[in-house]
Amino acid sequence: MRGGAMERCVEGAAKWTREQIQERVRGLGPWFHNLDLRGVKTAPDHFLGDYPAFKWRGFADAVPADLTGKTVLDIGCNAGFYSLEMKRRGAARVLGIDSDEDYLAQARFAAEVSGADIEFRNLSVYDVGSLGERFDLVLFLGVLYHLRHPLLALDLLHEHVVGHTLIFQSMQRGSAEVAPLEEDFPFSEEEIFDEAGYPRLHFVEHSYAHDPTNWWVPNRACAEAMLRSAGFEIVNHPEPEVYLCRRRERAAGRPPGAVYPARRAFVKGEQA
Ligand SMILES: C[S@@+](CC[C@H](N)C(=O)[O-])C[C@H]1O[C@@H](n2cnc3c(N)ncnc32)[C@H](O)[C@@H]1O
Repeated sequence: MRGGAMERCVEGAAKWTREQIQERVRGLGPWFHNLDLRGVKTAPDHFLGDYPAFKWRGFADAVPADLTGKTVLDIGCNAGFYSLEMKRRGAARVLGIDSDEDYLAQARFAAEVSGADIEFRNLSVYDVGSLGERFDLVLFLGVLYHLRHPLLALDLLHEHVVGHTLIFQSMQRGSAEVAPLEEDFPFSEEEIFDEAGYPRLHFVEHSYAHDPTNWWVPNRACAEAMLRSAGFEIVNHPEPEVYLCRRRERAAGRPPGAVYPARRAFVKGEQA
């Protein structure tokens, strides 16, 4: 951590004794993020191990080491692990949003103990348009599969908040193959849908991993196709579930919401 931020960090941390931190950590639990708050671990027995620190190690080198002057939006920030990391890299402004007030309380405490100047707000990804602001870097990590309307969320990120770079991560299930696909197939083509590498979004009607907030789990081809479809160009894939993307203007051919006139014309045989 550099200069002023480090001083603030030490100052903020000094207000709390180890015992006080331990007590607050217990009171704010259970934690999903295993943070290290002055030696106090918030989720030492996490079912995924030292999470998300071990995940972060897999793509930390792909994120600019110096974020001085940059603005960052961390969507589904949880207890703020990634928000804190972005602040450590010098980001001028970090805003973390989440729809769960208990996680936001953890994030605010963690930032306070770390002396990090981070804003946390209770806001759903579906409401990012209300921010009225684009960010240099948007983190959308571990949220897509928790959404009932995942493609809508990606569309909204493109439309409203991603200024330049999106860092995306999703749980994936199914084949890691990516089948080369034609732009179009005739109606009689059915076998393509059985190809392992065809984009596939698995619907969870009830619950997955004892978690009823899991709704849709893409295979790799689907995660990549959804990103492209929403207007994001994949520029780096440093870890199996993680993608660094640049925002691109959407292709004019198939804007979301405008498919019906094209379909009508197709059915009537009016297409050129
Ligand atoms: C699996 S955790 C991922 C946390 C963190 N981004 C990470 O990668 O470690 C999913 C987070 O998304 C949040 N979340 C779920 N639905 C959301 C929504 N509609 N808008 C914003 N956050 C949401 C949850 O509250 C939770 O904190």
